[in-house]
This record gives sequence, C-alpha cells and structure tokens, in this order.
Amino acid sequence: MPKLFIGNWKMYLTDAEAVDLARGYVEAAGANPSCEAAAAPSYTALDLVGTVLKGSPVALGAQNVFWMDRGAYTGAVSAPMLSALGVRYVIIGHSERRYLLGESDKTIVKKTAAAIRAGLVPVVCVGETIEEKSAGQREETVRRQVSASLEGVTPSAEHPVVVAYEPRWAIGTGISCHPEDVVAMHELIRAVVRERSGEESIGHLRVLYGGSVEAANIASFVREPSVDGVLVGGASTKIDEVRGMWSAIAAL
Ligand code: PGA
Repeated sequence: MPKLFIGNWKMYLTDAEAVDLARGYVEAAGANPSCEAAAAPSYTALDLVGTVLKGSPVALGAQNVFWMDRGAYTGAVSAPMLSALGVRYVIIGHSERRYLLGESDKTIVKKTAAAIRAGLVPVVCVGETIEEKSAGQREETVRRQVSASLEGVTPSAEHPVVVAYEPRWAIGTGISCHPEDVVAMHELIRAVVRERSGEESIGHLRVLYGGSVEAANIASFVREPSVDGVLVGGASTKIDEVRGMWSAIAAL
C-alpha cells in the first residue's frame, strides 16, 4: 500500500493562501503521485480547496467533525455536511483539541462513529504528553486512548480507519519522536486493534506518525514498514517542504 500523507493546515491560512497552497499540492502531485496525499484546510476554506483538488490525486480532509448528523448545534459541522463537500478524511481528537479544548475519549468515539456512518475515513489521533512520557506511562496512555477512541469500531474494507500516533510533546516543537519509539508505538496500536477487532481488521487500519515531520527527517519514519504514512502540520503548509517530503517518499 502506498504511504499516506495528510497535511493538517491547522489555523494557519486564509482562504486565498489555502487555495494557493492547494494549487501547489496539485502541481506537485502531478500525474504520478509518489504517495496517497490529502490536505485538511480550515472549514472556511474546505469548499474552495475542494474545488481546486477535484479530479486531482490529492484528497480533501477536514480537521474536526461534530457527532450528531443534524440539529440545533450552534457552530457545529456534521459528517454528512463534510461528505457533501467531497471530504474523505477527517482528523478526530487531535491533541490541540484534546488539551486546549477539553476533548475526551468519550466525544472522540462519538465523532469517529459519526465519520464512519457518513462514509468518511476517521484519522484518530492519540499520543502521550511529556508528563506521561516522563512518568513511564507512554504505552498505558496510548493503549487507553486507542481502546476508548475506537470503542465499537472495526476497521474493514468498507470502513477503513486511520490512527495517527502524535506524541503531544513532538507537535510543533521541532523535537520529533525517535523512529525506533515510533515503530514500537505503532506496533502497540496495531496490537490493541487486533485484540479488540481481530486480525482481519489490521489490513484496513493505517497507522501514521505525526509530530515535527519535515523534508529533512521524513525518510527516517516512512522507511519503517510499520509506518503507513505521516500526519504533518507546519511543514505541510510550505510547498517546498511538501515537495521535499513527497520526493523522500518517492525515493523509498
Ligand atoms: P507538526 O504538527 O507537524 O507541526 O508538528 C503535526 C500535527 O499536529 O498533526
């Protein structure tokens, strides 16, 4: 399976900047992309970026979703709304939402179910804080987050699932996780899903690494067979970095 690259554009870009970057992605992907790629702009730019990406090898992603499909939920955006805009991937439970906005595993599992119901591919983020790492609770934290966030979810051909291992201390800090530790955590994530959903489900689960990935270090992650791809924040908003990262994937 080709490596999966998801660009998480966070709250970095205006609409005009997002459209420009999306054009850069399409051009960089060309006719023979080196990886499966997606871009997740802000909600306000989803429609515009979706129009630019349409017909290209780059898929559209969203950065969040609400768990109800419709109703009186001011400010919320539902999975069917995203699906109607052509969204394929939706990032759920990103650590910036867990820690800054108080998202819990309880809401994350509801969002994951809503995404799957609407035919979207959930990209469920897990990862420990620096305190949990220092306290030797890395495995325990990730095990708990994966179990709780995927409660009742079985990855299948019809409903594939992506889990992104993103240690909180590696996000936006320039300090990435050691590839050996990434491999160990990816194996742990697969083991938890295998225990809960059976061997067959593993073929429909992709495990990505995220946290200070850039052109200069991406190869050290994606060359590991257990790393199915990357979820990239800051570097995914710079087209030269994106070109560099995709070239590194092509060179594998
Ligand atoms: P970063 O963010 O690449 O800027 O560290 C990754 C992410 O938050 O998904």
